Amino acid sequence: MVAIRLLGAGVLLWLMPWASSETLIHFIPALAVVWSSPGQVRTGGSRVGCSGKESVPQVSPFLLTYRAMSHWILLLLALLPVGLATSQRRDKVPCKMVDKNAWCQGLGLLQVPSGLPLDIEVLNLSGNQLRSILPSPLGFYTALRHLDLSANEISFLQPGVFQALPHLEHLSLAHNHLAASPAMSAGGLGPLPHVTSLDLSGNSLYSGLVERLLGQAPALRTLSLAQNSLTRLSRHTFMGMPALERLDLHSNVLMDIEDGAFEALPRLAHLNLSRNSLTCISNFSLQQLQVLDLSCNSIEAFQMAPEPRTEYQLAWLDLRENNLLHFPDLAALPRLVYLNVSNNLIRLPVEPPQGNRGTQGWSASPSNPSWNTSTHALSQLLNLDLSYNEIELVPSDFLAHLTSLHFLNLSRNCLRTFEARHAGSLPCLVRLDLSWNMLEALELGSRTLGSLRTLLLQDNALQDLPSYTFASLASLQRLDLQGNRVNPCGGPGKPGPSGCVSFSGISSLRTLNLVDNEIRVLRAGAFLHTPLTELDLSANPGLDVAMGALAGLEASLEVLALQGNGLAVLQVDLPCFSCLKRLNLAENRLSHLPAWTQAVSLEVLDLRNNSFSLLPGSAMGGLETSLRRLYLQGNPLSCCGNGWLAAQLHQGRVDVDATRDLICRFGSQEEVSLSHVRPEDCEKGGLKNVNLIIILTFTVLAAILLTTLATCCCVRRQRFNQQYKA
Ligand SMILES: *[C@@H]1O[C@H](CO)[C@@H](O)[C@H](O)[C@H]1NC(C)=O
Ligand SMILES: *[C@@H]1O[C@H](CO)[C@@H](O)[C@H](O)[C@H]1NC(C)=O
Ligand SMILES: *[C@@H]1O[C@H](CO)[C@@H](O)[C@H](O)[C@H]1NC(C)=O
Ligand SMILES: *[C@@H]1O[C@H](CO)[C@@H](O)[C@H](O)[C@H]1NC(C)=O
Ligand SMILES: *[C@@H]1O[C@H](CO)[C@@H](O)[C@H](O)[C@H]1NC(C)=O
Ligand SMILES: *[C@@H]1O[C@H](CO)[C@@H](O)[C@H](O)[C@H]1NC(C)=O
Ligand SMILES: *[C@@H]1O[C@H](CO)[C@@H](O)[C@H](O)[C@H]1NC(C)=O
Repeated sequence: MVAIRLLGAGVLLWLMPWASSETLIHFIPALAVVWSSPGQVRTGGSRVGCSGKESVPQVSPFLLTYRAMSHWILLLLALLPVGLATSQRRDKVPCKMVDKNAWCQGLGLLQVPSGLPLDIEVLNLSGNQLRSILPSPLGFYTALRHLDLSANEISFLQPGVFQALPHLEHLSLAHNHLAASPAMSAGGLGPLPHVTSLDLSGNSLYSGLVERLLGQAPALRTLSLAQNSLTRLSRHTFMGMPALERLDLHSNVLMDIEDGAFEALPRLAHLNLSRNSLTCISNFSLQQLQVLDLSCNSIEAFQMAPEPRTEYQLAWLDLRENNLLHFPDLAALPRLVYLNVSNNLIRLPVEPPQGNRGTQGWSASPSNPSWNTSTHALSQLLNLDLSYNEIELVPSDFLAHLTSLHFLNLSRNCLRTFEARHAGSLPCLVRLDLSWNMLEALELGSRTLGSLRTLLLQDNALQDLPSYTFASLASLQRLDLQGNRVNPCGGPGKPGPSGCVSFSGISSLRTLNLVDNEIRVLRAGAFLHTPLTELDLSANPGLDVAMGALAGLEASLEVLALQGNGLAVLQVDLPCFSCLKRLNLAENRLSHLPAWTQAVSLEVLDLRNNSFSLLPGSAMGGLETSLRRLYLQGNPLSCCGNGWLAAQLHQGRVDVDATRDLICRFGSQEEVSLSHVRPEDCEKGGLKNVNLIIILTFTVLAAILLTTLATCCCVRRQRFNQQYKA
């Protein structure tokens, strides 16, 4: 086998007109490796989801080479004819030329094509089968600024190959096999004097190799080492790239970052460490950083360096999906705008921390006495996501300093109560998500949350609230109360039962969700002076909608849902709701609708699972111009007398659900598809009846006639007998 391989290699060198001495150099170590015993080969793994936080063991790089090299030789042998053919057709370059751009992606190329114009500036060779990059012919294209070699099988770079390209600015070697070459350790990428962006993601690179690979790159601003197998960053990793601004290290297995690893990078502004195996950030001191992504690690604590030299620039911090037990101490980050600590194990202490600023940090006084209130911790924060944590209570002084906050998400915690009582607290908050907690109480002071537009409270245990809880929110537009036990009051001036919540007179409110609240009675005037456009009252079985319950909504309501309420009658004058576009009455016991005689706006009408047998044209006629969809499944429809419906099905102007399956019944129990009913079927049934009546009438008439005749005869015979006797 070895002999055949040697022979093969010899033949290869003899045959190949394009084989250069560099290839030869590359063969010799490869063949040497063939004789060495095969070891355990590890492929660099990068984590896929946040959950799979396993670490990959370290293996010597030389073991990796064995398999790669032997495959390399075999493949070269197999592809020899192809290679020869390519070299013969050298002049026919399959690439697409646009100005000075050569698009050669996905052409199955084995080599860098040589027949391209020498002044090209952009060369895209992404998605080919290149295995090695040699100075010839690449070095001829000296005007290249942009070289994309991503998604190939490159494992060999001739040392110094990119030096021949003096104008190269953007280089991508993403998704290749750079870790599989022993030659890499010798020269690496060499100096890259003008390269500003370099992509080395997805190459199974490991710590140690990276240092050897990266040489001097004084102009480098963007570097991606994402999706590799780095476990450690040292002080030497980023030497030689002092201009670096953006560094992407996501999806590695980093466990350790040496103190000062980023010290050589004074301009670093954007650092992505997402999806690694970090467990602790201590002594954080990257003052220059603006964006830091630490999501999907196993971080339990985030601590700042004790004495910052200058003000931190950090504006965007992502700590989602970690194991934080406390709210991080961010007092020294006055410019923070975005903070995501969703999916951690955070609890906020009930007692505010006393004096010592430590792990709970939010109420800590700024460590630098010259800072004034506008630089107070978190005072610039706009977006805070605390969802999916274990918070039981939000202390009021936690909220006190969040004076700029726009979005606050406390969904999926363990809150039993939420208070914002201090006048002017959370003055800029636009959206507050408190859904999926265990809230029983909600205390919103009268002049709080003045900008709040969306309040999400679904899936809590709210029951007896102060009557004007929501009426005090001056800007509230959308309120979701699904899955609580809220009982709406009646109209203004009509005191409802104790604990009821008033929804009347909230002039800003547009969307209200009261699904699944076990509401028994909806009293008259419940929404008076609240110009809702959407109202959902579904899943309140047994609901009694009082006369006038929706009064005041006639001119505004566009969407109304009353699904699954067991309604047998609906005391709502629906045709008066001139803006109504969608009406959902599914899963009730309705058999009649009010008559729509004038044209309205209704577009979608859902009547599924009710008791309708007839939809008479006299009642539905007004809908003909607007109605687009009609849902009727699950109703005991009558096959005859549904002329209006049959006409809609026939004309196809109104989209009736599952037309073919819509079942109807003839007078008896016979069930057929409504679309199969012909007019004659109903007429025939009618004729049979007429015949029966005629027969019956004839029988009766005949019977009467016979009786009469018989009587006459008897009378005559009696008379005759009497005469005879006489
Ligand atoms: C090269 O082509 C690939 C695949 O079409 C594309 O994703 C990539 O953005 C291109 N690179 C450049 C520099 O245009
Ligand atoms: C960091 O990388 C992840 C990929 O895992 C990406 O989703 C995220 O947007 C990146 N973060 C930043 C700040 O660019
Ligand atoms: C924290 O980091 C600074 C600057 O990198 C360094 O001087 C200091 O020694 C570090 N302190 C600890 C406790 O590691
Ligand atoms: C915070 O992270 C979670 C994932 O854990 C994501 O769903 C959410 O959209 C993020 N929040 C914000 C405000 O970006
Ligand atoms: C607070 O400090 C900032 C600069 O740090 C300054 O621009 C601002 O005027 C100060 N505000 C007050 C009220 O002193
Ligand atoms: C929390 O709320 C914010 C703002 O409404 C939203 O962007 C984010 O996606 C929510 N987070 C989750 C985990 O749903
Ligand atoms: C109607 O009832 C059927 C059978 O109970 C059910 O499968 C279907 O989901 C219901 N449809 C609606 C819209 O409620």
